[in-house]
Order: sequence, then structure tokens, then C-alpha cells
Amino acid sequence: MPLDLRAEAARYYDLNPARLGDIEFYLNLLSDPKARVLELGCGTGRVSIPLSQHGHFVHGLDLSEAMLELCEKKIAHASLTRQQILVQHADMTSFTLHQTFDRIIAPFRVIQNLETDAQLDGLFHCIRKHLTPDGRCILNVFHPFRPLDQLLKTWVTEEESLAWEIEKNGERMTCHDVRRRLVENPLVLYPELIYRRWRGEQMLEEAVLPIPMRVFYPDEFRDLIRSAGFTITGQWGGYSGEPYGEGNELVIEFRS
Ligand SMILES: C[S@@+](CC[C@H](N)C(=O)[O-])C[C@H]1O[C@@H](n2cnc3c(N)ncnc32)[C@H](O)[C@@H]1O
Repeated sequence: MPLDLRAEAARYYDLNPARLGDIEFYLNLLSDPKARVLELGCGTGRVSIPLSQHGHFVHGLDLSEAMLELCEKKIAHASLTRQQILVQHADMTSFTLHQTFDRIIAPFRVIQNLETDAQLDGLFHCIRKHLTPDGRCILNVFHPFRPLDQLLKTWVTEEESLAWEIEKNGERMTCHDVRRRLVENPLVLYPELIYRRWRGEQMLEEAVLPIPMRVFYPDEFRDLIRSAGFTITGQWGGYSGEPYGEGNELVIEFRS
């Protein structure tokens, strides 16, 4: 397994005050309270834990030991048992669990971390192997909005922009992003998230998380799923039911 990119940055993940509104969305799609869920890239359990608290068995997997360690702590704190939620270290492009699930989800743009077509092929192979015959998978990416030529001209900048800032225990935590690099064919953005902890004007700590974000335009994302041999059963532009292609997110539900 490669080095854990999130080793230093993981502890800042749950401090992000933004509310995506996606937990209710996933709960609404899980109409059967007995539906068993597999979460790919479960991170610190932001989505897995509430789903299991609503009665679903959730199996989470993630490539980052640091994110999983925080997830395990939250599971213990919530007094959830292994019959309710289980998380493990695994790569979503290559895993075998010897069981199938009613829903497979990868919330908060997880699949955009996969840069290559070979990784996406591995992901779709694993999804097919782990879905029940009636099962559905829901994947999400962000909607780039800007046309390609504009993105190529304007996206990269060395300027930091503030993503969020919070006060906690007399200290201040900030998260900035810097848009370092962009490559074509396939189109991948390489932003860095820079987390800092401050007391007054003194910076106490800094952690940098470089992430690849593969970009998909609305038609491209649909084609990707169809050409992997799946049938699309739902599509949305956001978590409040925005039409596909009109909101900030691209969310697609599909079956084998
Ligand atoms: C933006 S976080 C999302 C976490 C969680 N799904 C949520 O909604 O809060 C992306 C997560 O995907 C995980 N990830 C990235 N590539 C992965 C891979 N190949 N296999 C498994 N997890 C991966 C990262 O370690 C990270 O925890």
C-alpha cells in the first residue's frame, strides 16, 4: 500500500464546518431499513456512522490508516458494535470481501481521487462483484461548470484561498487551498489543502494534503458508468434534488 497521504491532515477533516447535506440524501435512497451498505472511501465515518445509527449495517473501507483510526474512535464513542459497522484498510480499486451489498456509496467525490483509467476499471470491477442482483451503486463527483478551455486557462494559481476557518479551545484552525497543477488526457486537477493551527498570530502547526481530482463533465460521467456496463437508475445535480447538470454536484445511481 502507498504511503498514507492523509497521515498529517486527517485530524483536520472533521473540523470542516461546511454541511454538504448528503447524509439525508443517502438515507432517503435507502428505503429498506435492512439495506446493507458498503462505503468506499469511508474516511472518518462522516456518512457511515449516521447510516449505521439509522439501522443499516455498514462496511466501510479506506486507503488511509489515519482516517480509519479516527473513524474507529468515533465508532467506539458512539457505542456501535461490529454487527452494526465495520471498517477496514483497503483500496477501492482492488478488494474482495466475499459478500454482496444492497447499496454501494462513495460520498464526497471519493472516486475523483482515482487518476487513471486502470484504477477506474478496477473500481467498477469491484463494484460489480460486491452488488446484490437488485443492488444499486451511487457515485458522486463535482460539476466543473467552467468549459475546458476556460479551466485550462484560469484554474492554476499559486494564490491561497480560504476554504474555512474555525475557533476551538482558544485556537484558530484554517484551511486554504492552492490550485497547483492541471494535466489533460485525462483531465486531473492537483490542488493542495493546507491546514494550519494558530494561537493569535502564531502558527503552531501546518499540514499539507496534496490531492488528485480527476474531472468529469456531466455527459462524460454518465458515459463512464454506461461504458463500464451499468444501467443508470437515477441522476441528480445536488442533494436537494437539483436536476442533473444544473447543480454543484453530479450524482449518479446505477445497477448491474
Ligand atoms: C474526501 S474524503 C471522503 C470521506 C467520506 N466518504 C466522507 O464523505 O466524508 C476521501 C476519502 O477517500 C479515501 N480514498 C482515496 N482513494 C482511495 C482508494 N483508492 N481506496 C479507498 N479509499 C480511498 C481517502 O483516504 C479519504 O478518506
